[in-house]
Amino acid sequence: MNGKILVTGALGNVGAEIVKRLQAAGSSLRAADLSVETIRERFGASVEAVAFDFSKKETYRAAFEGVEKMFLMRPPQISDVKGLILPALDAAQAAGVRHVVFLSLIGIERVKFVPHYKVEEYLMRSPMTWTFLRASFFMQNLNTTHRQEIRERSEIFVPLGGARTSFIDVRDIAAVAVAALCQPGHENKKYDLTGPEALDYWQAAAILSETLGRTITYRNPSALEFFVSHLRRGTPLPTAMVMTGLYLSTRNGMAESVTGDVERVTGQKPIPFRQYARDYQASWQ
Ligand SMILES: NC(=O)c1ccc[n+]([C@@H]2O[C@H](COP(=O)([O-])OP(=O)(O)OC[C@H]3O[C@@H](n4cnc5c(N)ncnc54)[C@H](OP(=O)(O)O)[C@@H]3O)[C@@H](O)[C@H]2O)c1
Repeated sequence: MNGKILVTGALGNVGAEIVKRLQAAGSSLRAADLSVETIRERFGASVEAVAFDFSKKETYRAAFEGVEKMFLMRPPQISDVKGLILPALDAAQAAGVRHVVFLSLIGIERVKFVPHYKVEEYLMRSPMTWTFLRASFFMQNLNTTHRQEIRERSEIFVPLGGARTSFIDVRDIAAVAVAALCQPGHENKKYDLTGPEALDYWQAAAILSETLGRTITYRNPSALEFFVSHLRRGTPLPTAMVMTGLYLSTRNGMAESVTGDVERVTGQKPIPFRQYARDYQASWQ
């Protein structure tokens, strides 16, 4: 491979894991996120860092120049795909990017209202090749989005009833992304990425309780209660709507299937929830 690999969302859950892996492998890499200083603090000066903001077209050129392949993540704050993501893809293509590995969502065929759907559609019509990483819900949501409620109230607040989720560890998503970025044979492939089992939130709470040595309760609010509580916490309306819509689809089984795609691509079994809980237990102490 002659060109660089660009990682967008380099400070995010998945992007940071990809950067670590590419850095360790000595790949030619450019890490992109809103703050160059924070990228340098996190990964050291040896990683090439670039300030990149989907909403600032003036940041595109420095990000895409000399890039052959890129990991694309849609920041959760961005719902305007047409105005903010597609122009970046056009600029990437014009700058010579040939392959895009896109972090998408499991069950996307059933949730066409989410922004990822439009990105996938656009990429499928693009001259660039692509790999879609259609990930199930991240285990790491519990130590990010749900960290405070678990730490402070020992509860998990999601409106899912008894629906099961095939949680995936972001380290497994990153491993698949790195394979798709560095090895041939992943062009125009769609991977459904899941962990090794589907758990309901009572089971997830029980594993966390055992790991942490205190009771973590699964609060199971109605979708309306969940939506209103997010608006009260300051979550922007479009984000709260997408989140609630996704949980409603998950209630209907969108994220319960377990696939073997992680192992097929990486040769490694995906990380089980219990292992994740042990690895991250300091987050909730
Ligand atoms: N969570 C899940 O269970 C799940 C499952 C499947 C798919 N996904 C998808 O995964 C994606 C998120 O991935 P992630 O969790 O790895 O990311 P993340 O941790 O949310 O990180 C997003 C990064 O993008 C940065 N950012 C914010 N606005 C930006 C902009 N305008 N331009 C460029 N960068 C910007 C953020 O900076 P700041 O932090 O400074 O804002 C942050 O560093 C979403 O599209 C989500 O739908 C999530």
